Amino acid sequence: MDAFAYREENGRRVLHAEGVSLPSVAVRFGTPTYCYANAALVARYQALAEAAPHALVFYSIKANDNLAVIRTFARLGAGADIISGGELRRALGAGIAPEKLVFAGPGKTRDEMEHALTLGVGQFNVESPAELDMLDAAARAGGTRARVALRVNPDVDAGTHDKIATGRRGDKFGIDDGEIAALYGRAAALEGIEPVGLAVHIGSQLTRLAPFEAAFERLIALVDGLRAAGHAVERIGLGGGLGVRYRDEAPPDVAAYGALAERVRQRLGVTVMIEPGRWLVAPAGVLLTRVILVKQAGERSCAVVDAAMNDLMRPALYDAWHAIETVAEAAPGGATVETDIAGPVCESADVLGRSRRLPPLAAGDLLALRDVGAYGSVMASTYNSRPLPAEVMVRGDALASIRPRQDHEALLARDLVPSWLT
Ligand code: LLP
Repeated sequence: MDAFAYREENGRRVLHAEGVSLPSVAVRFGTPTYCYANAALVARYQALAEAAPHALVFYSIKANDNLAVIRTFARLGAGADIISGGELRRALGAGIAPEKLVFAGPGKTRDEMEHALTLGVGQFNVESPAELDMLDAAARAGGTRARVALRVNPDVDAGTHDKIATGRRGDKFGIDDGEIAALYGRAAALEGIEPVGLAVHIGSQLTRLAPFEAAFERLIALVDGLRAAGHAVERIGLGGGLGVRYRDEAPPDVAAYGALAERVRQRLGVTVMIEPGRWLVAPAGVLLTRVILVKQAGERSCAVVDAAMNDLMRPALYDAWHAIETVAEAAPGGATVETDIAGPVCESADVLGRSRRLPPLAAGDLLALRDVGAYGSVMASTYNSRPLPAEVMVRGDALASIRPRQDHEALLARDLVPSWLT
């Protein structure tokens, strides 16, 4: 069930997030505002947990790092996949125990490692020999041992956008599969390291199961080899990457994905871990924006809205397509116009949607960009000195601010003018 639907309010039909109308969100919090439906987050998590009942879920915080979002999953039992000292703090702040954290990423610093080891982070996914040595040194210095999974680069093309594919030879991620056996052996001999398994993550927004299958087959072969060499392998990380439908994609069904994870678990007799981000949060969020003005650009009609590429970078960065809907329901059979929806930032890349068929727009109209719960607000910047957008969460009829809009004073206060310029 879609948590965002048109419903009656004051005699007109407007888009709601669960029981809360989006015009009321705009009145209370202004625009642009990210609005998340808690019911959608919970429903997605439960569907995934049902599809993969034996897999441990580590929510990939990078997709949406708001404490209220992380907390929602923490209460449902999730651990978290973290990538930085900042995400570590957020996971703890949302109430996830350090043992339920997996510290991933190709460039953890020594400081980050030490901090994570002191706190008792449950697992480190190591992506290079240099990192293994640094982690060993950090663990020995702290009188502890780091539980490590080696991240494999299986040389599998995920068939996704070039900028979010991570498992091909030459991508900066993971360790070439041919080097895994030797490095696992070396890890086992290090005093500060306890190797517990292997991990893989070949990319994001995968719309086919085949690349997952290919990567997991590589993992299985590697585990067989490690075991034959006498090593213990207890845990396998299958990464994230399951795609969602933004436009007309037909990503694999979550049940098929879960069944695949279960096959790996049974074949290897290991604990299987998954790190979903996008699949859990993308459909649970909309970006609410207001039309500033409508203009003609040559032959094209263009609505300039108050959200921009700094608030939602995906269209500019990946040519991503997000559905754009009018908050007031379009009259059935009513007139439509082909319109570009652009932000106020001074770059031609700042177009949130091109050639969209929408009812004729006017200044003041509200629009909703759909499926922006993942990699939306987390990637926002203050480019053009635009304050970071507000974020709110709805549950039933309840509406809460979960990240107030940054104010201009806070933005200015980050800068200091040297005394010799005053
Ligand atoms: N695990 C690792 C090691 C990752 O690098 C990622 C995502 C995930 C899990 C979660 O993947 P997901 O389930 O969300 O596909 N900003 C881009 C996506 C970048 C993904 C980065 N890594 C976008 O907006 O499409």
